[in-house]
Parts: sequence; C-alpha cells; structure tokens
Amino acid sequence: MTAPIVSDPVANSVALARDVATLRTIVAAWRDAGERIALVPSMGALHAGHLSLVEEAKKRAGRTILSIFVNPTQFAPGEDFGSYPRSLARDVEAFAAAGGDLVFAPEVEEVYPAGFATTVSVDGPAKAGLEDKFRPDHFAGVATVVAKLFQQCRPDLAIFGEKDYQQLKVVERMVRDLDLGVEIVAVPTRRARDGLALSSRNEYLSAQERARASLLYAALVRCRDALRSGAAIGPALAAARGALEAAGFAVDYIDARHAETLAPVAAAGEAPIRLFAAARLGTTRLIDNLAV
Ligand code: PAF
Repeated sequence: MTAPIVSDPVANSVALARDVATLRTIVAAWRDAGERIALVPSMGALHAGHLSLVEEAKKRAGRTILSIFVNPTQFAPGEDFGSYPRSLARDVEAFAAAGGDLVFAPEVEEVYPAGFATTVSVDGPAKAGLEDKFRPDHFAGVATVVAKLFQQCRPDLAIFGEKDYQQLKVVERMVRDLDLGVEIVAVPTRRARDGLALSSRNEYLSAQERARASLLYAALVRCRDALRSGAAIGPALAAARGALEAAGFAVDYIDARHAETLAPVAAAGEAPIRLFAAARLGTTRLIDNLAV
C-alpha cells in the first residue's frame, strides 16, 4: 500500500503507512541517509502526554515514527478493546503539528495474520503482583506487540511514558534479555492541572467522577510525603487506601515497591521506592505511580 501524505498548510507533512512493507521502504530510505530514528508506540487517542513523548523523540532523533495500534492481545475478555477511543485522522493531525514524520497504523490482520502463534513470555517485573494480578495476560500482549513494533520499525530508540511504569520496566527487561538493541527512554507522567495523570481512558469518566479522579494522585502525594517524613510504609499505605475508599474508589492495589525491580519493600529508606496505585471510579479504572 502506498503511503498517503497528510498535508497541512501550517503543520509539517506526515506519511501514513498502513502496512509493514510501506513502513520498511520509508525507514530504509532514512537509514540509507544515516538518520537516527525514534519510535513512540501508542494506541492512539493522543493527548498532551503522548505529545510530550513525541517532543522527547524529536530532541533525540532526526526522524520520529508514531505507531498507532489498539493491540487486542493486551486486553482481557470483557475489557474495553471494542470501545477504546479511536481517532486516527485527529491523531495524524496532532502528530503532524508536533513535527512528527511517519504514522504506522496497521490493521489487526497486518500485525496478527492468520496462523499467528508466537508470544513473548515475560517474568520479573511483569509478575510483580501489581497490574499483572488484575490483568494476567496483559504484559505478554504488550511485550509481544512491542517486540514486533521494534522489528517492524527498527528504531534506534523508543519513548515510553512513566504513567505505565510497570510496562516501562517490562519493556526495559525484555530489551535487555532479548538483546533488542533499542534504547528505551522514559518520560515523566503528564498531569492535568489538578494532578490527574493524562490517559486516553480519562474520557470514560463522567463529570462527577472526573471531579473526584484527582484524589488518586492526591492520595499518592500524601503517602509519599508521609514516607519522606519518616512514616512506616504499612500505615501510610493504609491511610491512602482508606482515603480513596472513603471517596468512593474501589481500590485494586496501592503499594510501595523497589523502583527498579518492583519487588516489595519493607521499610522506607532501604531502596529507591515508587508508589503504585490502581483504582476504579464507576466503570473507569485509573492507574498512577509516584517516586518517593
Ligand atoms: O502504552 C501503550 O499505549 C501500549 O501498551 C503500547 C506500549 C503501545 C503497546 O500496545
């Protein structure tokens, strides 16, 4: 399939590849020209958080690819694969305005053709007992599609947000374990004014839920401050959980972990600690994390 060029008189021009052959042709020409290539993997429905990843990519590479693919294998049955927001035309425009070069937006059949039978098996940070406890096959799906995207796009570096911190650690581990040769760059979470971490799923929140959603971040901040002031981990986490439950959240987990290995930590000060939380407001599941 040829790559249509999306032109905007104000913004840059962006190529759109819907298949791997087109993608490879464009990337091969950049490689021949000696360009450094960054990949920003995404599932689309771009917000300012994604655009901060693109901004970082542009600082580090001459060419930036944005992949947009709502990956079915990382959704469990009953999750929001069918209703996940899809807005390709708007995303391409936003990426063009941010100065990106190429959108790779394959169909499901291009990524998982008939007979597809290979999955990356993940352990270590993927089995930390955080997201994986509630979404057991999620990280195998993420790792498999990210490995494929790396093979398809052959980037020098790839940019991931700290918003999905466990995912970031899973990808870093996979890159080391499989010698994938892609530099992984982490970018801090972008937040709304009230502290809510930006996420494509925030648009599921009703106005009333949105007004309360930032309490998740507020609970993490209070817990972080308590730990920094010498509080013990158990009571600090219990207070955060209590505050969230009192505000109507159904808490899946709130935990303090080693920031690198994601292993449980018994006492503040014994390791670089990161706080992790996932909680549901109505039917929307929010996740967030914060360095202590
Ligand atoms: O973070 C995401 O948007 C997705 O998990 C990713 C990395 C694009 C893989 O589908």
